[in-house]
Amino acid sequence: MAKIYNGIPWFDQDGNTVNAHGACILKEKGRWYLFGEYKTDDENKYIGFSCYSTLDFTNWKFEGLALPPQKDDLLGPDRIGERVKVLKCPKTGKFVMLMHTDDLKYCDPCIGLAVGDSINGEFTFQGPLLYQGKPLKMWDIGTFVDDDGTAYLLTHEGNIYRLSKDYTQAVELIAENIAPGGESPACFKAKGKYFLLFSHKTSWERNDNYYFMADSLYGPWEYKGLFCPKGSLTYNSQCSFVFHYDGEKGRIPVYMGDRWSFPRQASAAALVLLPIEAGESGMEIPQYLEIWSPDTLNTIPAKPEKLLSFRSNVEGESCVIPFHGSRIALFGRTFQEGGYADIDIFNGEGKLVHKTAIDFYSLVPCEGLRYLSPMVPEGDYTLKVTVSGVGGVWYNKKGDRFGSKGCFVELTGWKADVNL
Ligand code: GAL
Repeated sequence: MAKIYNGIPWFDQDGNTVNAHGACILKEKGRWYLFGEYKTDDENKYIGFSCYSTLDFTNWKFEGLALPPQKDDLLGPDRIGERVKVLKCPKTGKFVMLMHTDDLKYCDPCIGLAVGDSINGEFTFQGPLLYQGKPLKMWDIGTFVDDDGTAYLLTHEGNIYRLSKDYTQAVELIAENIAPGGESPACFKAKGKYFLLFSHKTSWERNDNYYFMADSLYGPWEYKGLFCPKGSLTYNSQCSFVFHYDGEKGRIPVYMGDRWSFPRQASAAALVLLPIEAGESGMEIPQYLEIWSPDTLNTIPAKPEKLLSFRSNVEGESCVIPFHGSRIALFGRTFQEGGYADIDIFNGEGKLVHKTAIDFYSLVPCEGLRYLSPMVPEGDYTLKVTVSGVGGVWYNKKGDRFGSKGCFVELTGWKADVNL
């Protein structure tokens, strides 16, 4: 049974974090393939787009970098690569990758194109995506493939371009400026209606995302408001993609969003995947599910076994938890003054077996599961949670400061040998 663990880092077959953000997911020959931004923990430059695969959304295999940094050009040194989207073209059988490329100050946006022969092989960068013979100088993108195999590019502010039959050019601007001020577009179709999702522009900060609905991609598009409870900041995430999952209760659209964590995006940023309820009158994600199965739509309760009350902003102060088992879950609270905790797991001989960082910052407070370790051979271990003394802080283009006002770590409980 597939299980989705929301808002916490996932780990691959080697115990490394699943480092794929601004992502998309597609199914090929029975396996799910996740493509996303391969981030670092200190700076924002392009170091590649990653590809991971899974059968159950729990066990992830790192397939490699689908597109490593290029020697020069749009994805060369000191460039940005974001919001990678991969499509399989039914006409050519090739895999087509689109992305946002930019300079480090986000002042030279351009949509890029790469093509690959296999889903888990390396793609070849082709340069800019052209529309009427010119590069499309835009940034946040999304993609959508309609039932007839026609593919579309979605951009910030709500432009929709139809792509050529081989998906390698934009050939028609079919809708324009639907969502002024909108970023991170995502689109899906359900019950004969089209839904178009956007976030507001708050850099890595989350906001209340919203949507439009239409009978045709050409419009007219009707503004429908929020699809998550107001003030939840889209359950602390920013929309990036919607895919369909065939579960026991039929086909459901699944929302995919980013819980960013700048600057430690590689370790601490996480994905949020939630079932969408969509019908003729609109769409919503009525509640946040911490752990759930897309097969049954059941939620899996995540509760600590042992309660803790550790709260500190003193750099170097730590909470040590000896445990027996093969896995440990940590519970805690995120809030405006939260910062990063360094996580170390030592085995019985004192050898470090796992190391990562987790984030205790969120603009709207949230209590729950914060970390679920990778599986380790059953034994005696010690988990050490150390206050790093650092909180995530970033600035938008205008120089406005965003992020944490402190560096607190607040733990509320733990559970070992978890079968969550
Ligand atoms: C967001 C955008 C992200 C990234 C970020 C940088 O608004 O959706 O993809 O570009 O800004 O600050």
